[in-house]
Amino acid sequence: MSKINETELQMHYIELSRALLREAPSGQEHSFHLFTAGCQMNVLQSESVAAIMEKIGYTPKETEDADIIIYNTCTVRENANQKIYGHLGHLKNLKKKKPHMKIIIFGCMMQEPHVVEKIRKDYPFVDLVFGTHNMYKFAELFYRMMTSEGQIIDVWKESEDIVEGLPSSRKYFFKTGVNVMFGCNNFCSYCIVPYVRGREKSREPQDIIKEIEDLVKDGVTEIMLLGQNVNSYGKTLAVPVTFAQLLEQIEQIEGLKRIRFMTSHPKDLSDELIAVMAKSSKICHHLHLPLQSGSSRILKIMNRRYDKERYLDLVHKIRTAIPDISLTTDIIVGFPGETEEDFQETLDVVEKCDYDTAFTFIYSKRTGTPAASMPDQIPEDVVKERFDRLLSLVQEKGRAASSRFTGTVKEVLVEEESKDAGVLTGRTEHNLLVHFPGSKDLIGKYVNVSLDECKGFYYFGSIVNESE
Ligand code: SAH
Ligand code: SF4
Ligand code: F3S
Repeated sequence: MSKINETELQMHYIELSRALLREAPSGQEHSFHLFTAGCQMNVLQSESVAAIMEKIGYTPKETEDADIIIYNTCTVRENANQKIYGHLGHLKNLKKKKPHMKIIIFGCMMQEPHVVEKIRKDYPFVDLVFGTHNMYKFAELFYRMMTSEGQIIDVWKESEDIVEGLPSSRKYFFKTGVNVMFGCNNFCSYCIVPYVRGREKSREPQDIIKEIEDLVKDGVTEIMLLGQNVNSYGKTLAVPVTFAQLLEQIEQIEGLKRIRFMTSHPKDLSDELIAVMAKSSKICHHLHLPLQSGSSRILKIMNRRYDKERYLDLVHKIRTAIPDISLTTDIIVGFPGETEEDFQETLDVVEKCDYDTAFTFIYSKRTGTPAASMPDQIPEDVVKERFDRLLSLVQEKGRAASSRFTGTVKEVLVEEESKDAGVLTGRTEHNLLVHFPGSKDLIGKYVNVSLDECKGFYYFGSIVNESE
Protein backbone atom coordinates (compact mmCIF):
# COMPACT_ATOMS: atom_id res chain seq x y z
CA MET A 1 0.00 0.00 0.00
CA SER A 2 1.46 3.38 -0.84
CA LYS A 3 0.24 6.66 0.53
CA ILE A 4 0.24 9.18 -2.27
CA ASN A 5 -0.50 12.16 -0.06
CA GLU A 6 2.27 11.36 2.38
CA THR A 7 4.94 12.82 0.08
CA GLU A 8 2.95 16.05 -0.26
CA LEU A 9 2.51 16.18 3.50
CA GLN A 10 6.26 15.88 4.05
CA MET A 11 6.90 18.59 1.42
CA HIS A 12 4.54 20.79 3.40
CA TYR A 13 6.57 20.23 6.58
CA ILE A 14 9.74 21.10 4.67
CA GLU A 15 8.13 24.44 3.76
CA LEU A 16 7.01 25.05 7.37
CA SER A 17 10.53 24.29 8.62
CA ARG A 18 12.00 26.64 6.03
CA ALA A 19 9.78 29.43 7.28
CA LEU A 20 10.86 28.65 10.84
CA LEU A 21 14.49 28.86 9.88
CA ARG A 22 13.99 32.27 8.30
CA GLU A 23 12.76 33.52 11.67
CA ALA A 24 15.66 31.95 13.61
CA PRO A 25 17.90 34.35 15.57
CA SER A 26 20.85 35.65 13.57
CA GLY A 27 24.32 34.43 14.43
CA GLN A 28 23.54 30.73 13.89
CA GLU A 29 25.20 29.10 10.94
CA HIS A 30 22.30 26.71 10.15
CA SER A 31 24.49 23.66 9.70
CA PHE A 32 23.90 19.94 10.18
CA HIS A 33 26.22 17.02 10.77
CA LEU A 34 24.99 13.61 9.65
CA PHE A 35 26.71 10.39 10.71
CA THR A 36 25.66 7.09 9.13
CA ALA A 37 26.44 3.60 10.39
CA GLY A 38 25.46 0.30 8.78
CA CYS A 39 24.54 -0.94 5.35
CA GLN A 40 23.84 0.60 1.93
CA MET A 41 20.18 1.01 2.85
CA ASN A 42 21.13 3.29 5.69
CA VAL A 43 23.38 5.23 3.34
CA LEU A 44 20.44 5.69 0.98
CA GLN A 45 18.09 6.75 3.77
CA SER A 46 20.68 9.23 5.03
CA GLU A 47 20.87 10.70 1.54
CA SER A 48 17.17 11.41 1.76
CA VAL A 49 17.53 12.99 5.22
CA ALA A 50 20.42 15.14 3.95
CA ALA A 51 18.38 16.26 0.95
CA ILE A 52 15.49 17.27 3.23
CA MET A 53 17.84 19.19 5.55
CA GLU A 54 19.30 21.04 2.59
CA LYS A 55 15.85 21.85 1.23
CA ILE A 56 14.93 23.31 4.62
CA GLY A 57 18.01 25.52 4.37
CA TYR A 58 20.76 23.82 6.38
CA THR A 59 24.27 23.19 5.06
CA PRO A 60 26.16 19.96 5.69
CA LYS A 61 29.19 20.01 7.95
CA GLU A 62 31.88 17.35 8.44
CA THR A 63 32.53 18.14 12.11
CA GLU A 64 30.23 17.74 15.11
CA ASP A 65 30.12 21.44 16.05
CA ALA A 66 26.99 21.90 13.93
CA ASP A 67 23.56 23.24 14.92
CA ILE A 68 21.81 19.95 14.23
CA ILE A 69 23.48 16.57 14.85
CA ILE A 70 21.88 13.53 13.24
CA TYR A 71 22.89 9.89 13.77
CA ASN A 72 21.53 7.11 11.57
CA THR A 73 22.25 3.93 13.52
CA CYS A 74 22.89 0.22 12.88
CA THR A 75 22.55 -2.58 15.39
CA VAL A 76 23.60 -5.65 13.44
CA ARG A 77 26.61 -6.11 15.75
CA GLU A 78 27.11 -4.86 19.30
CA ASN A 79 30.23 -2.76 18.59
CA ALA A 80 28.21 -0.36 16.42
CA ASN A 81 25.96 0.36 19.45
CA GLN A 82 28.89 1.03 21.74
CA LYS A 83 30.25 3.58 19.29
CA ILE A 84 26.96 5.49 19.32
CA TYR A 85 26.91 5.69 23.14
CA GLY A 86 30.49 6.97 23.00
CA HIS A 87 29.48 9.69 20.52
CA LEU A 88 26.49 10.71 22.65
CA GLY A 89 28.71 11.17 25.71
CA HIS A 90 30.85 13.57 23.72
CA LEU A 91 27.80 15.49 22.42
CA LYS A 92 26.60 16.21 25.94
CA ASN A 93 29.61 18.50 26.46
CA LEU A 94 29.22 20.14 23.06
CA LYS A 95 25.57 20.91 23.75
CA LYS A 96 26.45 22.58 27.05
CA LYS A 97 28.48 25.11 25.09
CA LYS A 98 25.85 25.45 22.37
CA PRO A 99 22.39 25.25 23.93
CA HIS A 100 20.48 25.71 20.66
CA MET A 101 22.09 22.53 19.31
CA LYS A 102 19.57 19.77 18.52
CA ILE A 103 20.42 16.05 18.55
CA ILE A 104 18.49 13.53 16.46
CA ILE A 105 19.09 9.81 16.57
CA PHE A 106 17.22 7.32 14.40
CA GLY A 107 17.41 4.01 12.53
CA CYS A 108 17.73 0.33 13.38
CA MET A 109 19.14 0.68 16.90
CA MET A 110 16.08 2.71 17.93
CA GLN A 111 13.79 -0.24 17.18
CA GLU A 112 15.17 -1.97 20.28
CA PRO A 113 13.15 -1.08 23.39
CA HIS A 114 16.14 -1.37 25.75
CA VAL A 115 18.07 1.18 23.66
CA VAL A 116 15.22 3.70 23.73
CA GLU A 117 14.89 3.17 27.47
CA LYS A 118 18.60 3.90 27.92
CA ILE A 119 18.38 7.08 25.85
CA ARG A 120 15.35 8.24 27.81
CA LYS A 121 17.15 7.66 31.12
CA ASP A 122 20.82 8.38 30.46
CA TYR A 123 20.74 10.79 27.50
CA PRO A 124 17.81 13.17 28.13
CA PHE A 125 19.58 15.86 26.10
CA VAL A 126 18.80 13.94 22.88
CA ASP A 127 15.93 15.88 21.25
CA LEU A 128 14.41 13.42 18.79
CA VAL A 129 14.39 9.61 18.54
CA PHE A 130 12.63 7.66 15.79
CA GLY A 131 12.92 4.24 14.21
CA THR A 132 13.03 2.61 10.79
CA HIS A 133 9.30 2.44 10.04
CA ASN A 134 8.58 6.16 10.17
CA MET A 135 11.74 7.46 8.50
CA TYR A 136 9.60 8.86 5.72
CA LYS A 137 8.16 11.25 8.31
CA PHE A 138 11.52 12.89 8.91
CA ALA A 139 10.41 16.39 7.82
CA GLU A 140 7.32 16.23 10.04
CA LEU A 141 9.27 14.96 13.05
CA PHE A 142 11.91 17.62 12.51
CA TYR A 143 9.26 20.35 12.52
CA ARG A 144 7.71 18.91 15.69
CA MET A 145 11.11 18.95 17.36
CA MET A 146 11.77 22.57 16.38
CA THR A 147 8.40 23.72 17.69
CA SER A 148 8.23 21.89 21.01
CA GLU A 149 10.18 21.36 24.21
CA GLY A 150 11.55 18.13 25.67
CA GLN A 151 12.56 14.79 24.21
CA ILE A 152 10.38 13.36 21.43
CA ILE A 153 10.37 9.57 21.04
CA ASP A 154 8.38 8.19 18.12
CA VAL A 155 9.19 4.56 17.32
CA TRP A 156 6.71 2.36 15.46
CA LYS A 157 6.56 -1.43 15.72
CA GLU A 158 5.69 -2.03 12.07
CA SER A 159 4.44 -0.26 8.96
CA GLU A 160 2.84 -1.39 5.72
CA ASP A 161 3.66 1.80 3.88
CA ILE A 162 6.16 2.40 1.14
CA VAL A 163 6.34 6.11 0.44
CA GLU A 164 7.56 7.07 -3.03
CA GLY A 165 9.05 10.28 -4.32
CA LEU A 166 10.69 11.83 -1.24
CA PRO A 167 13.65 14.14 -1.91
CA SER A 168 17.08 12.54 -2.17
CA SER A 169 20.60 13.60 -3.02
CA ARG A 170 23.52 11.37 -3.94
CA LYS A 171 27.24 11.26 -3.35
CA TYR A 172 28.22 10.52 -6.96
CA PHE A 173 26.31 12.08 -9.84
CA PHE A 174 26.81 8.98 -12.01
CA LYS A 175 25.96 6.10 -9.67
CA THR A 176 23.57 5.40 -6.81
CA GLY A 177 21.64 2.76 -4.89
CA VAL A 178 17.96 2.06 -5.49
CA ASN A 179 15.81 0.19 -2.96
CA VAL A 180 13.77 -2.63 -4.43
CA MET A 181 12.48 -4.00 -1.16
CA PHE A 182 12.47 -3.38 2.57
CA GLY A 183 12.61 -5.70 5.58
CA CYS A 184 13.40 -9.38 5.82
CA ASN A 185 11.41 -12.56 6.50
CA ASN A 186 14.29 -14.97 6.90
CA PHE A 187 14.98 -14.88 10.62
CA CYS A 188 18.50 -16.28 10.48
CA SER A 189 18.90 -17.23 14.13
CA TYR A 190 21.78 -14.80 14.85
CA CYS A 191 20.35 -11.78 13.05
CA ILE A 192 18.44 -8.80 14.39
CA VAL A 193 17.52 -7.25 11.03
CA PRO A 194 14.03 -8.86 10.74
CA TYR A 195 13.16 -7.47 14.19
CA VAL A 196 14.30 -3.92 13.47
CA ARG A 197 13.33 -3.64 9.80
CA GLY A 198 10.09 -5.58 9.88
CA ARG A 199 8.51 -7.89 7.32
CA GLU A 200 9.57 -8.06 3.70
CA LYS A 201 7.82 -5.62 1.34
CA SER A 202 8.68 -5.04 -2.29
CA ARG A 203 8.27 -1.85 -4.27
CA GLU A 204 6.08 -2.03 -7.37
CA PRO A 205 8.23 -2.67 -10.47
CA GLN A 206 6.83 0.41 -12.23
CA ASP A 207 7.89 2.64 -9.30
CA ILE A 208 11.41 1.21 -9.44
CA ILE A 209 11.63 1.61 -13.23
CA LYS A 210 10.34 5.18 -13.05
CA GLU A 211 12.92 6.08 -10.39
CA ILE A 212 15.76 4.59 -12.44
CA GLU A 213 14.57 6.30 -15.63
CA ASP A 214 14.58 9.63 -13.79
CA LEU A 215 18.03 8.93 -12.37
CA VAL A 216 19.36 8.09 -15.83
CA LYS A 217 17.94 11.37 -17.18
CA ASP A 218 19.83 13.04 -14.36
CA GLY A 219 23.20 11.50 -15.34
CA VAL A 220 23.26 8.15 -13.51
CA THR A 221 24.69 5.22 -15.50
CA GLU A 222 25.30 2.67 -12.73
CA ILE A 223 22.75 1.51 -10.18
CA MET A 224 22.91 -0.85 -7.23
CA LEU A 225 19.57 -2.51 -6.48
CA LEU A 226 19.23 -2.95 -2.73
CA GLY A 227 17.36 -5.35 -0.47
CA GLN A 228 18.20 -7.71 2.41
CA ASN A 229 17.33 -10.63 0.16
CA VAL A 230 16.81 -9.43 -3.41
CA ASN A 231 16.21 -12.96 -4.64
CA SER A 232 12.84 -13.05 -2.95
CA TYR A 233 11.83 -9.72 -4.51
CA GLY A 234 8.24 -9.47 -5.73
CA LYS A 235 6.80 -12.52 -4.01
CA THR A 236 4.40 -10.47 -1.88
CA LEU A 237 3.20 -8.11 -4.63
CA ALA A 238 -0.45 -8.25 -5.76
CA VAL A 239 0.88 -9.29 -9.17
CA PRO A 240 4.02 -11.29 -8.28
CA VAL A 241 7.19 -10.56 -10.26
CA THR A 242 10.51 -12.39 -9.92
CA PHE A 243 13.77 -10.57 -9.35
CA ALA A 244 15.04 -11.94 -12.68
CA GLN A 245 11.99 -10.46 -14.46
CA LEU A 246 12.59 -7.11 -12.75
CA LEU A 247 16.21 -7.18 -13.94
CA GLU A 248 15.08 -7.86 -17.50
CA GLN A 249 12.81 -4.82 -17.37
CA ILE A 250 15.55 -2.62 -15.93
CA GLU A 251 17.94 -3.82 -18.63
CA GLN A 252 15.65 -2.16 -21.22
CA ILE A 253 16.24 1.32 -19.81
CA GLU A 254 18.19 3.23 -22.40
CA GLY A 255 21.27 5.06 -21.18
CA LEU A 256 21.75 2.80 -18.16
CA LYS A 257 25.08 1.00 -18.46
CA ARG A 258 25.66 -1.04 -15.33
CA ILE A 259 23.32 -2.90 -12.98
CA ARG A 260 24.48 -4.27 -9.64
CA PHE A 261 22.48 -5.77 -6.80
CA MET A 262 22.82 -6.99 -3.24
CA THR A 263 22.26 -9.05 -1.18
CA SER A 264 21.56 -12.46 -2.67
CA HIS A 265 20.50 -15.20 -0.30
CA PRO A 266 21.81 -18.56 -1.60
CA LYS A 267 18.56 -20.35 -0.77
CA ASP A 268 16.58 -18.19 -3.20
CA LEU A 269 19.06 -17.74 -6.04
CA SER A 270 17.23 -19.15 -9.05
CA ASP A 271 18.44 -20.70 -12.31
CA GLU A 272 16.35 -18.02 -14.01
CA LEU A 273 18.49 -15.33 -12.37
CA ILE A 274 21.74 -17.02 -13.40
CA ALA A 275 20.47 -17.26 -16.99
CA VAL A 276 19.42 -13.59 -17.05
CA MET A 277 22.81 -12.54 -15.65
CA ALA A 278 24.70 -14.66 -18.17
CA LYS A 279 22.97 -13.16 -21.20
CA SER A 280 22.73 -9.57 -19.96
CA SER A 281 25.04 -6.90 -21.28
CA LYS A 282 24.41 -4.58 -18.33
CA ILE A 283 24.33 -6.75 -15.20
CA CYS A 284 27.82 -6.69 -13.73
CA HIS A 285 29.65 -9.97 -13.31
CA HIS A 286 29.84 -9.66 -9.55
CA LEU A 287 27.78 -11.54 -7.03
CA HIS A 288 27.77 -11.10 -3.26
CA LEU A 289 26.70 -14.48 -1.93
CA PRO A 290 26.90 -14.66 1.88
CA LEU A 291 28.07 -18.05 3.12
CA GLN A 292 27.97 -17.36 6.92
CA SER A 293 29.36 -20.83 7.69
CA GLY A 294 30.71 -23.78 5.72
CA SER A 295 29.38 -26.32 8.20
CA SER A 296 26.02 -27.88 7.27
CA ARG A 297 25.35 -28.51 10.94
CA ILE A 298 25.86 -24.84 11.86
CA LEU A 299 23.97 -23.61 8.78
CA LYS A 300 20.98 -25.59 9.97
CA ILE A 301 21.09 -24.01 13.43
CA MET A 302 21.59 -20.62 11.79
CA ASN A 303 18.32 -21.27 9.89
CA ARG A 304 19.99 -20.48 6.56
CA ARG A 305 18.09 -23.24 4.74
CA TYR A 306 20.96 -24.47 2.55
CA ASP A 307 23.86 -26.75 3.35
CA LYS A 308 27.50 -26.86 2.35
CA GLU A 309 26.89 -29.08 -0.69
CA ARG A 310 24.06 -26.94 -2.00
CA TYR A 311 26.16 -23.81 -1.63
CA LEU A 312 29.12 -25.37 -3.46
CA ASP A 313 26.81 -26.67 -6.23
CA LEU A 314 25.36 -23.20 -6.61
CA VAL A 315 28.83 -21.65 -6.94
CA HIS A 316 29.72 -24.31 -9.52
CA LYS A 317 26.57 -23.57 -11.50
CA ILE A 318 27.26 -19.82 -11.45
CA ARG A 319 30.89 -20.22 -12.50
CA THR A 320 29.88 -22.53 -15.35
CA ALA A 321 27.34 -20.02 -16.67
CA ILE A 322 29.46 -16.89 -16.04
CA PRO A 323 33.13 -17.99 -15.97
CA ASP A 324 34.63 -14.57 -15.17
CA ILE A 325 32.24 -13.84 -12.26
CA SER A 326 33.63 -12.18 -9.14
CA LEU A 327 32.27 -13.74 -6.00
CA THR A 328 32.30 -12.07 -2.61
CA THR A 329 30.84 -13.27 0.67
CA ASP A 330 30.12 -12.72 4.39
CA ILE A 331 31.28 -15.19 7.05
CA ILE A 332 30.53 -15.33 10.78
CA VAL A 333 33.06 -16.92 13.13
CA GLY A 334 32.19 -18.24 16.58
CA PHE A 335 28.46 -18.93 16.24
CA PRO A 336 27.27 -20.76 19.42
CA GLY A 337 28.37 -24.38 19.41
CA GLU A 338 30.85 -23.96 16.51
CA THR A 339 33.55 -26.63 16.89
CA GLU A 340 37.00 -26.77 15.31
CA GLU A 341 35.55 -29.30 12.81
CA ASP A 342 32.76 -26.88 11.88
CA PHE A 343 35.32 -24.14 11.44
CA GLN A 344 37.43 -26.40 9.20
CA GLU A 345 34.37 -26.77 6.94
CA THR A 346 34.24 -22.98 6.61
CA LEU A 347 37.95 -22.89 5.67
CA ASP A 348 37.27 -25.66 3.13
CA VAL A 349 34.54 -23.64 1.39
CA VAL A 350 36.83 -20.58 1.29
CA GLU A 351 39.53 -22.79 -0.28
CA LYS A 352 37.08 -24.00 -2.93
CA CYS A 353 35.16 -20.84 -3.84
CA ASP A 354 37.96 -18.43 -4.84
CA TYR A 355 36.24 -15.35 -3.44
CA ASP A 356 37.63 -11.99 -4.48
CA THR A 357 36.77 -10.66 -1.02
CA ALA A 358 35.17 -12.12 2.07
CA PHE A 359 33.84 -9.92 4.86
CA THR A 360 34.53 -11.75 8.10
CA PHE A 361 32.66 -11.04 11.32
CA ILE A 362 33.01 -12.23 14.88
CA TYR A 363 29.64 -13.53 16.05
CA SER A 364 27.87 -10.88 18.09
CA LYS A 365 25.10 -11.83 20.51
CA ARG A 366 21.94 -9.86 19.70
CA THR A 367 19.29 -9.70 22.43
CA GLY A 368 16.00 -11.19 21.29
CA THR A 369 17.42 -13.47 18.59
CA PRO A 370 17.23 -17.28 19.09
CA ALA A 371 21.03 -17.63 18.97
CA ALA A 372 21.48 -15.29 21.94
CA SER A 373 19.99 -17.88 24.29
CA MET A 374 21.71 -20.91 22.76
CA PRO A 375 24.07 -22.81 25.06
CA ASP A 376 27.76 -23.08 24.34
CA GLN A 377 28.64 -19.50 23.41
CA ILE A 378 32.26 -19.70 22.24
CA PRO A 379 34.97 -18.15 24.45
CA GLU A 380 36.48 -14.95 23.09
CA ASP A 381 40.06 -16.26 22.77
CA VAL A 382 38.93 -19.29 20.71
CA VAL A 383 36.88 -17.08 18.38
CA LYS A 384 39.71 -14.58 17.97
CA GLU A 385 42.19 -17.31 17.08
CA ARG A 386 39.79 -18.80 14.47
CA PHE A 387 39.04 -15.34 13.13
CA ASP A 388 42.76 -14.66 12.55
CA ARG A 389 43.22 -17.97 10.75
CA LEU A 390 40.21 -17.29 8.54
CA LEU A 391 41.36 -13.77 7.77
CA SER A 392 44.78 -14.87 6.60
CA LEU A 393 43.28 -17.54 4.31
CA VAL A 394 40.71 -15.06 2.95
CA GLN A 395 43.46 -12.52 2.21
CA GLU A 396 45.77 -15.04 0.57
CA LYS A 397 42.96 -16.44 -1.61
CA GLY A 398 41.61 -12.96 -2.30
CA ARG A 399 44.96 -11.74 -3.60
CA ALA A 400 45.19 -14.71 -5.95
CA ALA A 401 41.59 -14.33 -7.16
CA SER A 402 41.78 -10.58 -7.70
CA SER A 403 45.03 -10.78 -9.67
CA ARG A 404 43.47 -12.99 -12.37
CA PHE A 405 42.89 -10.01 -14.66
CA THR A 406 46.53 -8.82 -14.68
CA GLY A 407 47.56 -7.74 -18.19
CA THR A 408 44.01 -7.49 -19.53
CA VAL A 409 42.14 -4.35 -20.59
CA LYS A 410 38.88 -3.63 -18.76
CA GLU A 411 36.28 -0.91 -18.90
CA VAL A 412 36.42 1.20 -15.76
CA LEU A 413 33.87 3.70 -14.45
CA VAL A 414 35.97 6.57 -13.10
CA GLU A 415 34.79 7.50 -9.58
CA GLU A 416 37.12 10.07 -8.08
CA GLU A 417 40.62 11.41 -7.78
CA SER A 418 42.70 9.31 -5.38
CA LYS A 419 44.77 10.74 -2.53
CA ASP A 420 47.55 11.38 -5.06
CA ALA A 421 46.84 14.27 -7.40
CA GLY A 422 46.60 13.20 -11.03
CA VAL A 423 45.73 9.61 -10.10
CA LEU A 424 42.13 8.50 -10.63
CA THR A 425 40.28 5.56 -9.12
CA GLY A 426 37.45 3.57 -10.61
CA ARG A 427 35.87 0.15 -10.70
CA THR A 428 35.58 -2.62 -13.25
CA GLU A 429 32.29 -4.47 -13.61
CA HIS A 430 33.83 -7.07 -11.29
CA ASN A 431 33.91 -4.38 -8.62
CA LEU A 432 37.71 -4.37 -8.61
CA LEU A 433 39.34 -1.09 -7.73
CA VAL A 434 41.78 0.40 -10.26
CA HIS A 435 44.12 3.36 -9.84
CA PHE A 436 45.55 5.03 -12.95
CA PRO A 437 46.92 8.39 -14.06
CA GLY A 438 44.34 10.64 -15.73
CA SER A 439 42.61 13.97 -15.62
CA LYS A 440 39.73 14.78 -13.28
CA ASP A 441 37.30 15.55 -16.10
CA LEU A 442 37.09 11.79 -16.71
CA ILE A 443 35.16 11.35 -13.44
CA GLY A 444 31.81 9.73 -14.21
CA LYS A 445 33.03 8.44 -17.60
CA TYR A 446 33.90 4.93 -18.78
CA VAL A 447 37.49 4.40 -19.92
CA ASN A 448 39.42 1.35 -21.05
CA VAL A 449 42.26 0.67 -18.67
CA SER A 450 45.08 -1.82 -18.96
CA LEU A 451 45.40 -3.58 -15.59
CA ASP A 452 49.19 -3.56 -15.50
CA GLU A 453 49.96 -4.52 -11.93
CA CYS A 454 47.92 -6.12 -9.16
CA LYS A 455 48.73 -4.60 -5.76
CA GLY A 456 46.79 -7.11 -3.67
CA PHE A 457 43.27 -5.77 -3.55
CA TYR A 458 43.55 -3.16 -6.28
CA TYR A 459 45.24 -2.67 -9.62
CA PHE A 460 47.53 -0.02 -10.92
CA GLY A 461 46.82 0.57 -14.59
CA SER A 462 47.01 2.92 -17.55
CA ILE A 463 44.36 4.29 -19.87
CA VAL A 464 44.29 2.61 -23.26
CA ASN A 465 41.64 4.80 -24.84
CA GLU A 466 38.42 6.42 -23.80
CA SER A 467 35.52 4.08 -24.50
CA GLU A 468 32.88 6.76 -24.25
N1 SAH B 1 20.70 -9.73 4.33
C1 SAH B 1 22.05 -10.00 4.21
C2 SAH B 1 22.92 -9.60 5.37
C3 SAH B 1 22.67 -8.38 6.16
S1 SAH B 1 23.66 -8.18 7.58
C4 SAH B 1 22.22 -11.50 4.03
O1 SAH B 1 21.43 -12.28 4.46
O2 SAH B 1 23.22 -11.86 3.48
C5 SAH B 1 25.29 -8.27 6.89
C6 SAH B 1 26.13 -9.35 7.48
O3 SAH B 1 26.32 -9.14 8.86
C7 SAH B 1 25.56 -10.74 7.39
O4 SAH B 1 25.75 -11.32 6.14
C8 SAH B 1 26.29 -11.47 8.48
O5 SAH B 1 27.48 -12.04 8.00
C9 SAH B 1 26.64 -10.37 9.47
N2 SAH B 1 25.88 -10.52 10.70
C10 SAH B 1 24.54 -10.46 10.86
N3 SAH B 1 24.23 -10.68 12.15
C11 SAH B 1 25.39 -10.90 12.81
C12 SAH B 1 25.73 -11.20 14.16
N4 SAH B 1 24.80 -11.34 15.09
N5 SAH B 1 27.03 -11.33 14.48
C13 SAH B 1 28.00 -11.20 13.54
N6 SAH B 1 27.73 -10.92 12.27
C14 SAH B 1 26.45 -10.77 11.89
FE1 SF4 C 1 19.62 -11.18 8.56
FE2 SF4 C 1 19.31 -13.51 7.40
FE3 SF4 C 1 17.65 -11.52 6.81
FE4 SF4 C 1 20.17 -11.43 5.99
S1 SF4 C 1 18.64 -12.94 5.35
S2 SF4 C 1 19.05 -9.78 6.95
S3 SF4 C 1 21.28 -12.41 7.65
S4 SF4 C 1 17.84 -12.56 8.77
FE1 F3S D 1 22.52 -2.39 10.24
FE2 F3S D 1 19.96 -1.95 9.96
FE3 F3S D 1 21.48 -2.29 7.83
S1 F3S D 1 20.88 -3.18 11.53
S2 F3S D 1 23.07 -3.64 8.54
S3 F3S D 1 21.64 -0.64 9.24
S4 F3S D 1 19.39 -2.98 8.08
